[in-house]
Amino acid sequence: MPSLQSYSTFGLSVSCDSIESFTDVPSFLSLYNSIENRADSAVYILGGGSNSIFTEDFNGKILVNEIKGISHFDTETHHYLRVGAGENWHDFVTLCMKEKWYGFENLALIPGSVGASPIQNIGAYGREVNALIDNVECVFLETGEQVLLSNTDCQFGYRDSVFKHALANKVLITHVNFKLPKQYALETSYGELAALTEPTPEKVYSKVIEIRKSKLPDPSELGNAGSFFKNPVVRHSVYQAIADEYNSVPHFVVAQSADFSDTEQSQIKIPAAWLIDQAGFKGKTLNKVRCHPTQPLVLTNLGGATGSDVITMAKDIIASVQDQFGIKLEPEVRLLGSKGLISL
Ligand code: FAD
Ligand code: EPU
Repeated sequence: MPSLQSYSTFGLSVSCDSIESFTDVPSFLSLYNSIENRADSAVYILGGGSNSIFTEDFNGKILVNEIKGISHFDTETHHYLRVGAGENWHDFVTLCMKEKWYGFENLALIPGSVGASPIQNIGAYGREVNALIDNVECVFLETGEQVLLSNTDCQFGYRDSVFKHALANKVLITHVNFKLPKQYALETSYGELAALTEPTPEKVYSKVIEIRKSKLPDPSELGNAGSFFKNPVVRHSVYQAIADEYNSVPHFVVAQSADFSDTEQSQIKIPAAWLIDQAGFKGKTLNKVRCHPTQPLVLTNLGGATGSDVITMAKDIIASVQDQFGIKLEPEVRLLGSKGLISL
């Protein structure tokens, strides 16, 4: 049974029935169609494994996307890029910076593949990838039918898209097409970026890399999958009840009521890192899993952690935050059991 340890950045020591990679659509379809009893078999498409935690041996097949290729053309107003889903995200962003195809600078140093970027609509430092996606090329697993999903078809939201709902486990993303306006608008509203003097895309790119290196553990040194939980979005009254009890609760208004006097209809995002920090988990270790000392939203594998260590720690955090604040944290990572995705 091949080991999955090096295929997931969290690095748990688990195995699967088989791991095979493909470099184009025909080779993918031939691998997929050769799986017997597909209805009863677990099949998981994998990119860089930076958002997937295999908590136990996976009784199924792993298909690793290695579709490569980047092509570019431009018009008077836009750059257009067609990118193979198996390209590495950060290498792609770095190439774009070199070519002065601006827009991706806030999304530097996010691990993983280009093909996974629309799945959870990756985002960082004030920008989400959906702002730059023109459309997404997919293949239906069962029929081999190729489809082009427009940006609207993808139903992007915060860490969300149609690929997590109606199209979950139904399509392979083969290419992502990006459309970048030449008259780009720099995004510098987030935290430390606002302090940049005379910001340029290059300065934003470097600053984002610097901030990320100072806060987030490098998966090549310490196993992790980035943020373990999503930042909860709550009604104003939920936020207000917390704010009445705690000094200066960090928060962001994500949706304002059309009637500005009706604050109750507003949606407020409260950083899960703050909730977890307040609940006393920051830096805490349980068996071989640690809640990261500089970013408590990240759980790390100290080496030799097991899936049950991860699940126990995650459940403890969820229960404590729920007890203290009445908010139920939801995992941002994809957790896998022996047959496929699991929830906590
Ligand atoms: P995988 O884990 O391989 O796959 C993720 C999901 O997508 C799985 O369900 C898989 O089945 C599916 N999938 C992958 N490729 C395809 C495809 N071609 N077709 C169909 N389905 C597919 N995320 C952010 O949004 N912002 C951040 O700032 C951020 N920072 C991170 C920092 C660290 C240190 C780490 C480890 C992770 C971070 N992440 C962040 C999470 C992660 O990098 C992203 O979710 C990334 O897009 C995952 O890419 P991947 O190729 O590794 O995905
Ligand atoms: N905070 C604390 N204690 C801490 C650290 C942070 O209270 O020890 C509070 C602070 O108030 C801080 C706030 O949490 O201002 C937010 O922290 P940070 O700016 O680090 O961002 P985040 O909300 O925790 C999100 C994304 C990250 C993304 C960063 C930057 C989610 C789930 N996570 O984290 O994405 O890189 O913003 O934009 O939305 C990922 O998805 O894997 C990921 C790393």
